[in-house]
This record gives sequence, C-alpha cells and structure tokens, in this order.
Amino acid sequence: MRIELRDVRHVYSPGTPFAVEALKGVSLTVEPGEVLGVIGGTGSGKSTLVQHLNLLLLPTGGEVLVDGADAVSMDRTALRRRVGLVFQAPEQGLFAPTVEEDVAFAPQRLGLNEEEVRGRVREALGLLGAGHLAGRSPFALSGGERRRVAIAGVLAMGPEVLVLDEPTAGLDPTARGDLMGLVGRLKASGVTVVFVSHDLDEVAEAADRVCALEGGTVRSVGAPDEVFYDDLSLAPATVRVAAAVGERRPGFGRPVRYGETLAALRSLMGGAA
Ligand SMILES: Nc1ncnc2c1ncn2[C@@H]1O[C@H](COP(=O)(O)OP(=O)(O)OP(=O)(O)O)[C@@H](O)[C@H]1O
Ligand SMILES: [Mg+2]
Repeated sequence: MRIELRDVRHVYSPGTPFAVEALKGVSLTVEPGEVLGVIGGTGSGKSTLVQHLNLLLLPTGGEVLVDGADAVSMDRTALRRRVGLVFQAPEQGLFAPTVEEDVAFAPQRLGLNEEEVRGRVREALGLLGAGHLAGRSPFALSGGERRRVAIAGVLAMGPEVLVLDEPTAGLDPTARGDLMGLVGRLKASGVTVVFVSHDLDEVAEAADRVCALEGGTVRSVGAPDEVFYDDLSLAPATVRVAAAVGERRPGFGRPVRYGETLAALRSLMGGAA
C-alpha cells in the first residue's frame, strides 16, 4: 500500500493558550515495499508525523491518502491493522500476565481461530528472537526484551506497513543490530517499514529513502546519498569522512553504508588497506 501525506498540519490543543503547531505542512509518500528512515532533532515532529500514517492522530489540515483514497473516511480499525504502529518506548504498554497473551491480544481481535492466533504469536516472537520469553511475565523482563515483545504484538497483526518510532533507542549494540536485521527481513518479505531514529548510521544502513524533519517541516527527503551528501550536517560520520575524501578524489563516488565506504577507501588505496 502507498500512503501519501499532502500538506499535513497538526496542532496540539488547538484554540487554547497551549496550542503547539507540531507539523506545518508536511508532504511525504511512503512507497510500497520501501524502508523509509525518519530523522530530525528532538521536537521536530517525527512522532507526530508517524502517528498520521494510521490516523492515530488526525490532521488539523491537509490530507492523508491510502492508495489514492482519502484515509479519513476509511474504517479506522481496518486501517490500523494494515498499518501497524509501534510507539516510542512501547514497552510501557504491555499489560497481560504472560508475553504470549500480550502478543495474542491484537490477533485475537482479528477473528482468527485459536490455532491461527497461536501460530501468529509464535511467528512474531520468533522473528524478534523472543520465542523463549513466551511464558514469562512481561513485567519481569529487561527493557530490551520488553521492547521486542511490544514489537511482536504489532507484527502479530500481520501489517502491510510497520511503523517503528525509535525502535532501537536505549538498546545495546547487539540488540540494535538484531532489530535492524528484522527490518531487513521484513522488507524481504514485502512489508513496508517506516522507522524513526536518532542513529544516523543505522538509517544509512537500512533506509531506502530518508526524510529529515526540522521544526515541523520536511527539510529534505530522498535517497540516502542525496539527503546526506546535499547537507552533510544531516549525515553520519562515515558519510562525512567519505565526502571529505571524495572532494580530493573525483570518482570516489557517494558511498553511504559503512561497507560501501570501506570498499571505496580500499579501492582508492589500491587494495593495500
Ligand atoms: N500531546 C502533546 N501535546 C502538546 N504538544 C505536543 C504533544 N506531543 C508533542 N507535542 C509537541 O509537538 C512537537 C513535536 O513533538 P514530537 O513528539 O512529534 O517530536 P519528535 O520529533 O518525535 O521528538 P523526539 O525526538 O523527542 O521524540 C514538540 O514541540 C512537542 O512539544
Ligand atoms: Mg518522538
């Protein structure tokens, strides 16, 4: 499915002294099958933006289109099944006595039989490397384990688009790597992924396209090499190093991922590195 935001505005507490204009006319498309990374400073509107993708937040102005049709008039529950949203710090939302029951909560509401629900739960926990936690209490898990269970709960609905708001924040490097590996596997299985991150390296590794927000507007959007090389202040250190080398060595290219940068440096050094 293709989701398009057209000139979306969002004002929190409109008409009150506390009104905040969090999105000031954002236009952006999420293409089917892509991995879209959303970056931007604290308060730039990332969480507000992604909550418009399944209409958890309604736009104050502008339009949200799903496959070309106005999403506001669609069945909200059905839309939220197709576009699964994992909140920032989702582990705070776990509630059931066991991990298994927590993950089963959403698929149970899809009208599936018990066996199908169990299958979905097993598959989702397996994808997150959390199958061994099934019988545990979610409240007796580490923060990173709880994060995985919360993501499994959304995946178990079988969404076409998975939206992850800062999925790796506060996780150790191994857990981060595992989660980004999951993003790759989901993409390979045809799931569209939108993820918010403050970690530019992981955005460079995983994203097909990048959207950089600033002050509630889109500062830049496009392929990672366009966004990063056009404005190095948005780029991870690897890209800044590559850009500095490329300035002196025409033909160095515009590598974005760590592996590509290393390969370009090696070839520059004639295979000596
Ligand atoms: N529930 C709310 N009520 C009022 N203002 C809000 C609310 N949620 C967010 N805001 C404001 O909207 C703006 C955008 O917030 P948002 O949470 O979308 O930013 P963000 O880019 O996700 O930031 P972070 O990186 O810190 O998560 C900020 O100015 C914030 O203070
Ligand atoms: Mg946020």
